[in-house]
Amino acid sequence: MHIFVNINGNITTAENARLPVLDHGFLFGDNVYEAFRTYDRKVFLFSRHFRRLQHSAQGIHLTLPWPPDRYREEIARTIQAADFPGECKVRLIVTRGVGDIIADADTCSDPAFVILVAPLPDFPARMYKEGVEMMVASSVARGGMVADFKTGNLMHQVLATREVKARGVHDAILLTIDGYLSDGIACNIYMIQGSTLKTPGYDASIIEGITKGVVLDKARALGMEVVQGLFRPEEIHRSNEMFLTSTYREVVPVVRVDGKPIGDGKPGPWTHRIFDAYHKAVAELKLED
Ligand SMILES: Cc1ncc(COP(=O)(O)O)c(C=O)c1O
Repeated sequence: MHIFVNINGNITTAENARLPVLDHGFLFGDNVYEAFRTYDRKVFLFSRHFRRLQHSAQGIHLTLPWPPDRYREEIARTIQAADFPGECKVRLIVTRGVGDIIADADTCSDPAFVILVAPLPDFPARMYKEGVEMMVASSVARGGMVADFKTGNLMHQVLATREVKARGVHDAILLTIDGYLSDGIACNIYMIQGSTLKTPGYDASIIEGITKGVVLDKARALGMEVVQGLFRPEEIHRSNEMFLTSTYREVVPVVRVDGKPIGDGKPGPWTHRIFDAYHKAVAELKLED
């Protein structure tokens, strides 16, 4: 199945898509992006993702050149052209444009948008039922001023993914440069101690997940106390339960970290409740734009 690409309104397959090599997105990772998914083949929570894209763009002093509805329409058109039988993952990138071979954005001409539409992977039912193992990454750290902007500077993800594959685990937890828990490679992490839900906060160089926003509302509604802040890795094994969230994977129980079980090594009752609450929320939020 082809991945479909829309560059500035021109839709083609990935094999045929072309971008100039002097685009600063390629030369310097000078771009911002969002990762969406569909439910019923319609993009989920477009406006929330778009607000985060605007936040990222502001952070790197990039003016988004088109109004939100243009991106929304182009995404819908690309999904339609791809015509995949199931759900899609969608990446929207706004890249700085063609410039000189120096890190000076003022040399760049107009930004370009690129939309990638691919089939959403069929995550195995086992992943949700039995939970997954994570590790703490040791080769990379999160931090610096651009940590909470989604930009093309993703070398930490590339290096952490190497570690994950070498260890044969599902995902890796990154630490901040000061050694506090941050987020997963492309997911947020949560620890449950009693009825308290602890999750790394803004000051832990995380990306504020759209899924996280929904999950924290649901956790509070379930009567949990939510604590966001700086946590040391030792908190992990003080927890009875753990889970991760992301747009694509939704809510996934984490049952082992670095080879050691969390609680009894099985998805726990709070995680089940949050999983159910999230799926109910999706049914309602599908109607939100
Ligand atoms: C570093 C990082 N943290 C967390 C997330 C989860 O965010 P969301 O729930 O919006 O998918 C992502 C998603 O790409 C991410 O890259």
